[in-house]
Amino acid sequence: MNPRSIVILGGTGDQGLGLALRFARAGRPVVIGSRKLERAVEAAEKVREAVPGADVVGLENVDATPRGPIVIVSVPFEHTASTVKSIKSALAEGQIVVSMAVPLAAAIGDGAVRTVGIWQGSCAELVAALLPPGVEVVSAFQNVSAHRLQHLAESVDCDVVVSGGSEPRKLVMGLCSLVPGLRAVDGGPLSNARIVEQLTALMIGLNVRYKVREGTGIRFTGLPER
Ligand SMILES: NC(=O)c1ccc[n+]([C@@H]2O[C@H](COP(=O)([O-])OP(=O)(O)OC[C@H]3O[C@@H](n4cnc5c(N)ncnc54)[C@H](OP(=O)(O)O)[C@@H]3O)[C@@H](O)[C@H]2O)c1
Repeated sequence: MNPRSIVILGGTGDQGLGLALRFARAGRPVVIGSRKLERAVEAAEKVREAVPGADVVGLENVDATPRGPIVIVSVPFEHTASTVKSIKSALAEGQIVVSMAVPLAAAIGDGAVRTVGIWQGSCAELVAALLPPGVEVVSAFQNVSAHRLQHLAESVDCDVVVSGGSEPRKLVMGLCSLVPGLRAVDGGPLSNARIVEQLTALMIGLNVRYKVREGTGIRFTGLPER
């Protein structure tokens, strides 16, 4: 395992590819995971095209998982549990799984401007319930627009609320500084993911009403510099 590598399962999709581009641009090794090796390899090639010299590799999800200390799960909410179960045996104690999914009601055929309730409280807590002890879950990046992440020429004007256990939370907060414009906000315990995930549904509604194709962002004012 390369301690600098960042693993992105579903890095073939809009949000995962956006993060892969940004982390690669910042000089970090990136491992893109997919259910299909060819799709992962293709996505890695896209990153290399956009970021010449990028250290990026595409692998099947289960092979990608052990390659870095932080594993971002970037698949739609409705496929999150099955994805997490499929890589569970490849995870080792001390690794951090980042939950980014939003339980949009689109998952059950309803709209993307509403969410569905989850017994555990949030998608992040559902992920935590599925993982073995020793693997930490951190919630982050739910309020960042994929479009803006992929548009490398511009900075991403958005705060990222990061929630989870204190040490893993700090490590994931550190990833935000790799992306120009992103600011990590200490979101406290994982249960606060309940609030953060809901915000995305509101933001999708704002995107529609204000016709912001590139996606809105959030900013908290009045916070002191850290
Ligand atoms: N898009 C945004 O602007 C945005 C913003 C904030 C948060 N998010 C969150 O980020 C996550 C990814 O969003 P996205 O827009 O990138 O999603 P997406 O493009 O629809 O899908 C991402 C990846 O999920 C995998 N996937 C699709 N169907 C699957 C299935 N049946 N089982 C397992 N994996 C499947 C696919 O990877 P393979 O086929 O390669 O396996 C796909 O490339 C979501 O949870 C979303 O809520 C998105």
